[in-house]
Amino acid sequence: MNVFDSVILEAFQKNNERDPYEDMKIVVASLKRDDYNDFSIMENPKFFRKAVRYSYIQYDGELPVAFAYTREYRYEGNHTGVTISVAVNPEYRRRGYAKLCCEKVIQEAKSDPKITEIAWGADKTNKGSIALAKSLGFKSWYTHDGDIMLRIPM
Ligand SMILES: CC(C)(COP(=O)(O)OP(=O)(O)OC[C@H]1O[C@@H](n2cnc3c(N)ncnc32)[C@H](O)[C@@H]1OP(=O)(O)O)[C@@H](O)C(=O)NCCC(=O)NCCS
Repeated sequence: MNVFDSVILEAFQKNNERDPYEDMKIVVASLKRDDYNDFSIMENPKFFRKAVRYSYIQYDGELPVAFAYTREYRYEGNHTGVTISVAVNPEYRRRGYAKLCCEKVIQEAKSDPKITEIAWGADKTNKGSIALAKSLGFKSWYTHDGDIMLRIPM
């Protein structure tokens, strides 16, 4: 297992080597029936390509097995934040891949002076997601409609 590539989505699309959108869809298709799976944003490739800022994909050889990506949002008028989405093929879990992918996109977000908030939303029953967020340094922020929101203080 090694890291195939680390890319900014836009740069990847220009390179035209692999299509990160298609590779992330392969990971989503591997998720279990009872996994949290609200990646409906991927149903619209045009919207997805426009909405996603940074992505990082982990490969096992040619097989994409994990990814994280960020989406931007506006808050308090003019500030820009990002939320993180992440998924890992069930066969590859608890090996640190989610953490690695998230660390990469967090690193990108932190190096972008425009980004002033990094947020994480999880269904409150998704213990894995919440534990992962906390292991990445996210702190509880607020709850809303069955979701818990966390963020990295910046
Ligand atoms: C949540 C998810 C991304 C975790 O992926 P993963 O590769 O297994 O996570 P990692 O191996 O990087 O875990 C890093 C740390 O997060 C925590 N963690 C991850 N999964 C956990 C679980 N199921 N229960 C408790 N803690 C968990 C642990 O602290 C873990 O460190 P450790 O293994 O040394 O104890 C994966 O289970 C998944 O794809 N779930 C379905 C999609 C989803 O829920 N995405 C998140 C919401 S967008």
